[in-house]
Amino acid sequence: AAVDAYFLPILLLQPLVTNCWHCLHRKFTRLPHLAGTQQNLVYAEQIKEEWLKFGLDSVEMVPYDVLLSYPNKSQPNYISIVDQLGNEVFNTSLAEPVPEGYEDVTDIVPPYSAFSAKGQPEGDLVYVNYGRTEDFFQLQRQMGINVTGKIVIVRYGKIFRGNKVKNAMLAGAKGIIMFSDPEDYCAAGVQPYPDGWNLPGGGAQRGNVLNLNGAGDPLTPGYPAKEYAYRHSLEDGVGLPKIPVHPIGYHDAIHLLKNMGGQIPPNNWKGALNVSYRIGPGFTDDFKTHKVRMNIQTNNQVTRIYNVIGRIRGAQEPDRYVILGGHRDAWVFGGIDPISGAAVVHETVRSAGRLLSRGWRPRRTIVFASWDAEEFGLLGSTEWAEDNAKLLQERAVAYINADSAIEGMYTLRVDCTPSLHTLVYDITKQVTSPEEREEGLSLYESWHKRDNWTNDRDAPRISKLGSGSDFEAYFIRLGIAAGRARYTKNKKTERYSSYPVYHSVYETFEIVENFYDPSFRKLQAVARVRGGLIFQLADSQLLPLDANQYAVSLSKYAQSIAQLAQMHPEEMKMYEVTFDSLFSAVENFTVAARDFHDRLETLDRTDPLQVRIVNDQLMYLERAFIDPLGLPGRPFYRHVIFAPSSHNKYAGESFPGIYDSLFDIENSANPEKAWEEVKRQISIAAFTVHAAAMTLTPPSVSSTKTNDSTNV
Ligand SMILES: *[C@@H]1O[C@H](CO)[C@@H](O)[C@H](O)[C@H]1NC(C)=O
Ligand SMILES: *[C@@H]1O[C@H](CO)[C@@H](O)[C@H](O)[C@H]1NC(C)=O
Ligand SMILES: *[C@@H]1O[C@H](CO)[C@@H](O)[C@H](O)[C@H]1NC(C)=O
Ligand SMILES: *[C@@H]1O[C@H](CO)[C@@H](O)[C@H](O)[C@H]1NC(C)=O
Ligand SMILES: *[C@@H]1O[C@H](CO)[C@@H](O)[C@H](O)[C@H]1NC(C)=O
Ligand SMILES: *[C@@H]1O[C@H](CO)[C@@H](O)[C@H](O)[C@H]1NC(C)=O
Ligand SMILES: *[C@@H]1O[C@H](CO)[C@@H](O)[C@H](O)[C@H]1NC(C)=O
Ligand SMILES: [Zn+2]
Repeated sequence: AAVDAYFLPILLLQPLVTNCWHCLHRKFTRLPHLAGTQQNLVYAEQIKEEWLKFGLDSVEMVPYDVLLSYPNKSQPNYISIVDQLGNEVFNTSLAEPVPEGYEDVTDIVPPYSAFSAKGQPEGDLVYVNYGRTEDFFQLQRQMGINVTGKIVIVRYGKIFRGNKVKNAMLAGAKGIIMFSDPEDYCAAGVQPYPDGWNLPGGGAQRGNVLNLNGAGDPLTPGYPAKEYAYRHSLEDGVGLPKIPVHPIGYHDAIHLLKNMGGQIPPNNWKGALNVSYRIGPGFTDDFKTHKVRMNIQTNNQVTRIYNVIGRIRGAQEPDRYVILGGHRDAWVFGGIDPISGAAVVHETVRSAGRLLSRGWRPRRTIVFASWDAEEFGLLGSTEWAEDNAKLLQERAVAYINADSAIEGMYTLRVDCTPSLHTLVYDITKQVTSPEEREEGLSLYESWHKRDNWTNDRDAPRISKLGSGSDFEAYFIRLGIAAGRARYTKNKKTERYSSYPVYHSVYETFEIVENFYDPSFRKLQAVARVRGGLIFQLADSQLLPLDANQYAVSLSKYAQSIAQLAQMHPEEMKMYEVTFDSLFSAVENFTVAARDFHDRLETLDRTDPLQVRIVNDQLMYLERAFIDPLGLPGRPFYRHVIFAPSSHNKYAGESFPGIYDSLFDIENSANPEKAWEEVKRQISIAAFTVHAAAMTLTPPSVSSTKTNDSTNV
């Protein structure tokens, strides 16, 4: 088709996103704006005023009272080495060295692990690599080390920190220290900030250490944290760690690690510090009597937070919502996380406002959200999802997330539901590459060249959604089609975790201005992708969701989970485990999706009811994957196809129910029962996929029984 109305919004969007990105990014990174603080409320009010000025139909502040966690200002957290006389002969630093230009800033919260238990555990250290499930297995099963009553020290990276804490707790540790190793937080050939973008030795990673599994506010799981909400006691709060936890930088880590004794570590347990990385427990001969003490005084506190919610009423389908949401709260200045993303939301609102002033109005309602308290467990977004669950499950078409727009300087990264793949490719072909030496290339071409990944359609890589940002409740709990896009590093050559200064005081305006995106063209390209998704989803007559692509992904996931089970051929035979039902369901889905899209070719698009019928089928397709009972032990993870991995919240797992039932099954105490659970999970997956397929069939012939005379 020619450039028709379908592409109009995106063509309009391109010249419109031309604001001074520097000024905007600078404005919201000047002061620390931790969730629950006055400054984060000031920014919320400012955003509300500006969104109204840009021309949104309505903007409101939506408060909740949620559990947050702060260090005690008069009793700072630190870790010490204690000699045989009880003297603290070494203390870790109380704060990061403040970057130049920010010396006068007050209210920089020192590095801490939000929601850590209080306490002063003292004991021997045991080093457990990244603290992953497999690291603890190796420690316990191969090295024969029991960490009960010990303090565990692990390096940051590879997995979500909350999973490390959970693993340490389950192993019996009485405290856990996490450090940033240069191997994981320094790129080769790059200087530490401010001369480069590496983490300096005095920097450390803040972050929450909850295991919420999608619950939102720990005291009000499942329900919005309104004034009248019933609150659990802290003891019954969801996901709160029971042991002290604290983060440190690599300068401090050297002191804790350098005299450790015990076994020599395997090579893949060694980082880049000039220490032995011995496992422990405890120190070498000369220092045998020295112990480690954690001094943690962090307090949990119910605190008011504020989401800002803006709306553009849809012209034809006001009862269909397309949501663009991203957080505003930051650990300190938020130069990358989240302001590089919040700036994108702000610019998208400005563009939408300008289009409105020229007489445009989207077909569907657009909702813009500035979430609060994402850093404390996705709290603002989850509470709003809980508050509006009934409306959202009836009316939400899609949710696009807008956390950090950059985590690297190399190319685009997209994670989304399979039904959005096609739209993402279409849009990135309309956006120009932000790279200096790629004049004339589209973002798609640049992305494809840089992340050349031959899949079923020879297109650039798109990954599954995991978690760790605000889309979680929308996608995994409510079953709303969701996606995220950002600029990322070169996965092949850059081995460090996330980005070096992640959640440190060095996430400033200057790190973006001087290193990540001096021209702000990358931010602009990401804005066009996120904005393009929102505009197309809100304005296309037919929803640009692709059921065929969901079929392709389901087939891939089914094959891969069956292969995993095939690692146990004898057991599969003995317990009569088969994946036939799942493959049958995927086949049914594939046929239903193909027929559905074939029928769209001949749809009478002038008949609004016919259009609405198929659009509803497309919108509710994602909802059809929701199992109201949730995954075993994780009632708020209800999507049968996708969940955050049980071993790493950041990663997505497909067919998570089956996957978890197979995990470590060879060491199960009761294999028969374990394989029964595998069979149960396969049947749930097969039923759900088949049921989803049925929602794509034509409504007029969906009933095979016509006469229901037995039904009296
Ligand atoms: C913080 O520490 C001070 C000094 O020890 C103590 O008096 C105060 O109660 C603590 N605050 C909280 C909220 O625990
Ligand atoms: C560590 O801090 C404690 C408590 O403030 C203090 O008594 C001790 O002298 C400090 N040790 C060192 C080596 O600074
Ligand atoms: C580890 O040590 C604790 C306490 O000494 C003991 O209760 C527990 O059974 C041990 N665990 C293993 C797996 O040996
Ligand atoms: C590493 O540490 C050892 C012992 O402290 C020291 O002798 C050596 O010079 C250090 N190596 C480097 C490269 O710093
Ligand atoms: C990606 O790699 C394939 C196979 O090596 C090659 O044929 C194709 O041209 C590459 N695509 C791009 C966009 O570089
Ligand atoms: C797939 O469809 C066929 C034909 O309708 C049906 O017999 C079969 O049970 C379906 N598969 C599943 C898993 O429901
Ligand atoms: C349904 O019932 C009506 C009235 O009893 C009968 O005429 C018709 O043939 C039945 N249709 C089918 C498909 O059984
Ligand atoms: Zn973030």
